Amino acid sequence: MPRKQLVLLGASAGWMLPTCWLAQFEEIHAWDIDPLASPLFRWRHGRHLQSQGIRLHLNTADGLDHLNERTREMPGAFFWFDNMLGQLRFTNEPLDALSRRLQALQKKLQHVAWGSVHDRMSGRTTLGTSLPLSRLGLSGVAMETSEGQAWLQQMGAISPWLDHLTEHVLPPGTPVQHTAWPFKPGYAHWLEMGWHPKASSSRADAEWCPVHPGFDAR
Ligand SMILES: C[S@@+](CC[C@H](N)C(=O)[O-])C[C@H]1O[C@@H](n2cnc3c(N)ncnc32)[C@H](O)[C@@H]1O
Repeated sequence: MPRKQLVLLGASAGWMLPTCWLAQFEEIHAWDIDPLASPLFRWRHGRHLQSQGIRLHLNTADGLDHLNERTREMPGAFFWFDNMLGQLRFTNEPLDALSRRLQALQKKLQHVAWGSVHDRMSGRTTLGTSLPLSRLGLSGVAMETSEGQAWLQQMGAISPWLDHLTEHVLPPGTPVQHTAWPFKPGYAHWLEMGWHPKASSSRADAEWCPVHPGFDAR
């Protein structure tokens, strides 16, 4: 994983990100549409990052706008979508258009290293179910496959669950971690997280980091 520049999309205050993980990078460029994200991010991480000489650029804007420009400007950066892409279905964009836009990210980002942690599905669970441990797999497990159904059953999912439209975000075959997140009693999210090296670099060059650093993997 490149460690010079981090482009962090959907940063919020970086609640899920340990400061020491952020401090691996020399420069951080973060985006969030929420105007409170920047001051809170600075409050939570700023002092330590500054003391390490890490340059922090916080932006209040749509992280998906001008993505092509950003990949051209920072071709060696690591682009990380931090639990943002699964939230986009709550905007006014028609769902089929959004699905296509999410799938098109693969092409936009093919010349950089990038990754995402996102909701795949969420919904009610049988109260008292102890959620399964995180497990490794490959991206794009469809809900209706036996693998998808077995995973939902382990979470105690009560149908219907909400599809966050992120099945095709990561390129097919990307190694991912599937995690069950207890959002509140009787309600869980299925999170998928993984990253992809730059298209030009070989898999052997890439060290795969399977665990999202800030999650309490269960
Ligand atoms: C679930 S939160 C992410 C939490 C965050 N990564 C953390 O560590 O606390 C999703 C964030 O994505 C932001 N967001 C949603 N759509 C966005 C967009 N198009 N561009 C940038 N940020 C966006 C929201 O404002 C919100 O702060």
